[in-house]
Amino acid sequence: MDIQFGVDYYPEHWPRERWETDVRLMREMGVDVVRLAEFSWFLLEPERGRFTFEWLDDAVDLFAKYGIKCILCTPTAAPPAWMIAETPEIQPTDRQGRRRHFGGRHHDCQSNSVYREHIRRYVTAFAQHFGSHENVIGWQIDNELGNSHGDLCFCPSCEKRFQQWLEDKYGAIAVLNEKWGTAFWSQGYQRFSQIQAPKLTVTGENPSQMLDWKRFCSDLIVEFHGFQAKILRDAAPGKFITHNLMGFSDKVDYFNLAKDLEFASHDQYPRGHWTNRELNAHGNAAALDLIRGVKQQSFWIMEQQSGITGWETLGYAPRPGELGLWAMQSVAHGADTIVFFRWRTCTAGTEQYWHGILPHSGIPGRYYNELKAFTAQTRDLLKEVKGGLPGARVGIVFSYDQNYAMTIQPHHPKLRYVDFIMRYYKALFDRNIPVDFISDQADFSPYSLVIAPLQYLMTPALEEKYRTYVRHGGHLALTMRTGVKNENNLCMADKPLPGGLSDLVGLKVLEYDCLVDTNVDVLWGDSRYHGEKWSDIVEVTTAKALATYGSEFYAGTPAITANAHDKGIAYYIATEPSEALTDKLVAEWIRAARLFALGDTPEGVEITRRKVGEKEYLFVLNHTGHEQQFDIPAGWSSYFDGQEQTLAPYSFSVYTN
Ligand code: GAL
Ligand code: ZN
Repeated sequence: MDIQFGVDYYPEHWPRERWETDVRLMREMGVDVVRLAEFSWFLLEPERGRFTFEWLDDAVDLFAKYGIKCILCTPTAAPPAWMIAETPEIQPTDRQGRRRHFGGRHHDCQSNSVYREHIRRYVTAFAQHFGSHENVIGWQIDNELGNSHGDLCFCPSCEKRFQQWLEDKYGAIAVLNEKWGTAFWSQGYQRFSQIQAPKLTVTGENPSQMLDWKRFCSDLIVEFHGFQAKILRDAAPGKFITHNLMGFSDKVDYFNLAKDLEFASHDQYPRGHWTNRELNAHGNAAALDLIRGVKQQSFWIMEQQSGITGWETLGYAPRPGELGLWAMQSVAHGADTIVFFRWRTCTAGTEQYWHGILPHSGIPGRYYNELKAFTAQTRDLLKEVKGGLPGARVGIVFSYDQNYAMTIQPHHPKLRYVDFIMRYYKALFDRNIPVDFISDQADFSPYSLVIAPLQYLMTPALEEKYRTYVRHGGHLALTMRTGVKNENNLCMADKPLPGGLSDLVGLKVLEYDCLVDTNVDVLWGDSRYHGEKWSDIVEVTTAKALATYGSEFYAGTPAITANAHDKGIAYYIATEPSEALTDKLVAEWIRAARLFALGDTPEGVEITRRKVGEKEYLFVLNHTGHEQQFDIPAGWSSYFDGQEQTLAPYSFSVYTN
């Protein structure tokens, strides 16, 4: 499949007479693929069982005429009004027990059996009809599963399904009572049927119940996706299924969802709903690295920002060059194909100001011209780097379960699992050290450094995995709040923290301090840094202190330690290190774990790498609005003609070995 660029297109928003002009303009811009129909249920089934696929047939045929392939979507994020009127119970219920209504999107309950029958009818007919179209190459199920479902659904159907999920997991109610610690506040159950979906309480919640609820919600969405995937695969074999994931969104465990995808896709809006002029270049990079990580494979961008965005209010217009730069950042982190959202800015509905490549008028302007030049310049490069990965030697463990547990009890009002991880990520990013996000089930052996932040929930198997990694020579960084709880979100009580990992890190946590509105000083060598939000107060057994606290009643005790264990080293970071302290740690790891940096760059200039066999590609991205200097590494040659040491504002260059 030779597909590098695409657009998200909504032919149903435009008069027929315009379609061919659009398709021609797309072709001229370098478009190979379009994604269609993810919100078009009403126009494809205007009443139960009456399918009006003809207009979409015509669109698919028109694209075929111009050599553009199609990805079709199931429209299950937007059930039509007739369906809601006929079967209102398919609307979701929020935590307050209020029904959420028609008028936006995602007004569906994903467990509801009546809704499932609507889906079965539609998706079967849709797959049978379009499955034989040669020009339809793949499917996307629903759209951004989990989006807007963050606080849904607590309806009787979901509650019942939750009860069944719990019964499958625990078998007997006595087991659940023990695993959830229901002796507290008289929460014991006699039967699974007494357990409620965790709707709004008077006060407080059971953290074990909340954790299982979040896992259940994720499993439900994965199953909801699988339900549709099976219909599509049975009726129309030989086409791929992908899904547009949303970076660090936490509703669905993407490692699980991705198992059902031929490849992952991602929606990348570098400026999205945010109006901040400062671009979050490292945050955008991290989202891409996470999506590459869900399958440890290259991926697609299914929606790449293509203009000024916003719903009710808008952000900054992409500066000249930025659209191409952002698309190139996606490629630089492992995207093989870039689909831009959206083709033309719509005149109606919620997203009237979420701009596409073409403005409302449909007359090609700056965005179109920039992207046309971009596709022409980079198409061959995209073909060459296809499938290439960075060959990272640093892995950061990303866990949905840990994220859930820390969200349920953040400890410090500002402690956030993803932000906490991002400290480490940014320090590595700033030094141009490639990083993989990995699940705790991944093979750690390719990495010389594994950073495993907030390993709050711990199992004997995971302990063993960390121990084995270090034993074989790995460098492992564990942090505050490691080994605190078991997998049921109950505090472990048999040993001092960090529990079974005490010997690996060579210390015991005696007590801790929550730094609610203060920081703690941290001394490393002659320099003074600080730690934030939390201090573990530790006593070392075999570990050596690299840094100590420099204030509070525990001044002089270790804040960061290293413990040599067999062939490797286990680090313990007892606080949330400030940016400068994290950078100091990274410097230590560069030395100890022999990490390599891709190069030295001024702030706002990023370097990434993709390796394809022996061939390597270096991407240098200037995210700033200023000219920047970059020294071409010795032995590398310019990929594009005319590349100089000076990088223009919002530009990129590429080198090969
Ligand atoms: C994405 C979504 C698109 C569109 C876009 C702009 O999250 O998948 O359908 O809504 O955001 O808001
Ligand atoms: Zn429901």
